[in-house]
Amino acid sequence: MTEDQIRALAAEAVAAKEFSYSPYSGFRVGAALLAECGKIYRGCNIENAAYGPTNCAERTAIFKAVSEGEREFAAIAIAGDADDYLYPCGVCRQVMAEFCDPDAFRIFLVKDRDDCKEFSLRELLPGAFTAADLEKGKR
Ligand code: THU
Repeated sequence: MTEDQIRALAAEAVAAKEFSYSPYSGFRVGAALLAECGKIYRGCNIENAAYGPTNCAERTAIFKAVSEGEREFAAIAIAGDADDYLYPCGVCRQVMAEFCDPDAFRIFLVKDRDDCKEFSLRELLPGAFTAADLEKGKR
């Protein structure tokens, strides 16, 4: 990815916050997921009066993409409302681990359009539990 492409993905994550449904926390989050085919899927957090059913922006983007047939992903950009880098929650990291290569998948934490921190999935979720672990348990 070029610097311009990273900036464009960051801008998509910031734009995705617009549709955040977050009346309980008041904390908007946006995500932009880049599929290997080049398509970008936006996601926002969607809260619920029962709190538990709340869906994070990252999972919204991933579930939208997977539900449309995408399985290969290159990168995700994540933007929160705070003037700081927003790290994905543990559940979202685990969902990323289901579909994304731990070393090749790029995670950009967006402070603003021109200020991103980058991590690999392995850095954010070392020792992820995956389908390979399930195989080891089979007798
Ligand atoms: N949230 C996200 O959308 N992504 C994260 O990685 C962390 C938290 C949302 C969930 C909830 O709507 C709000 O932020 C406060 O936790």
